[in-house]
Amino acid sequence: MIEAVDVWFSYRDKEILKGVNFKAEKGEVTVLMGKNGAGKTTFLMHINGLLKPKRGEIFIDGEKVHYDRKSISKVRRKVGFVFQNPDDQIIAPTVWQEVAFGPTNLGLNEEEVKKAVENSLKAVKLEGFERKLCNELSGGEKKMLSIASVLAMDPDYVIFDEPTAGVDAIGFKAIVDIIKELKSKGRGVIVSTHDFDLANYVGDKFVFMNDGKVVFEGYEPDFTLAAEIGIRTFAYGKIIIVPHTAKIPISDDIDFVAAMGYKAKKRAAEEGINIDINSAVLERSILRALEGHTVLLICSEEMIRTVKREVAKYPVKVEERKVEVYEVHKV
Ligand SMILES: Nc1ncnc2c1ncn2[C@@H]1O[C@H](COP(=O)(O)OP(=O)(O)OP(=O)(O)O)[C@@H](O)[C@H]1O
Ligand SMILES: [Mg+2]
Repeated sequence: MIEAVDVWFSYRDKEILKGVNFKAEKGEVTVLMGKNGAGKTTFLMHINGLLKPKRGEIFIDGEKVHYDRKSISKVRRKVGFVFQNPDDQIIAPTVWQEVAFGPTNLGLNEEEVKKAVENSLKAVKLEGFERKLCNELSGGEKKMLSIASVLAMDPDYVIFDEPTAGVDAIGFKAIVDIIKELKSKGRGVIVSTHDFDLANYVGDKFVFMNDGKVVFEGYEPDFTLAAEIGIRTFAYGKIIIVPHTAKIPISDDIDFVAAMGYKAKKRAAEEGINIDINSAVLERSILRALEGHTVLLICSEEMIRTVKREVAKYPVKVEERKVEVYEVHKV
């Protein structure tokens, strides 16, 4: 576990961190969110020893970080840092040299270094780039290269500062996969991001920072608080799935009603509910939810699993209203 206890920091006389308490576990993805200037990057630089707190302590796997050379080099080995701007990180002329730098420094032999470089370049989809010059890569490619250099050292914890900023859909997917892979290998991942799609895809624990302090920590994000402290969450629509046998809950927060299949349409008609989406129902419901709307989707019980599986491929929240069985009275 990485733990920060009452960490204070200032740049010159400007106080930036005002008593941060934070924990991130191995095998979990901890997402750090907060508005611009909240202190996220400054804080992250403390947990791999790039900055020294003015007051407070950092513990890595229970071991207190001391700020001598030996302690810092141990911290750097355990905690990798992928910078927001890859130009702050890339130091070697060629892609191969850049990725080989870390494992070579760790004392790996030639064969091990080769393997580490190959595997990391594969993970970020930069196979075949070995001989390229780093300064000739595109912004997105540099980002992936900076991730590869960290992966090559196989750290126990990896910090990603705004990993998806300026990254296209393919890069986004690759970054999601890398984070999930690290987690499945039992590594601890800490991601600072403004990208709620990413947070939603990978996050286990959510930590919100505001004005130099941690103001929220939980396994479900608090959307109301997020909105209050300037965290962007709007790209997060919702589909409420209701089986056709249930009482259909119509409320003010529903933007669109969709009915999928004959039974659902019949049910809506019986209850006198106006249907907004009744063709290409699943696709159009997902599209509306991706735009941030709330869609009430009525479908037959047999379809619920299929619908949930399909919706799970997108950054849309699914809520299932449990069956309040509707009794059919014969007349
Ligand atoms: N090197 C520096 N010297 C002086 N002030 C700094 C320095 N780096 C950051 N700051 C200030 O510290 C505060 C916190 O910055 P930080 O980069 O940690 O925020 P952040 O939460 O990462 O923001 P963002 O979401 O924009 O990345 C800001 O007010 C910033 O101006
Ligand atoms: Mg930052």
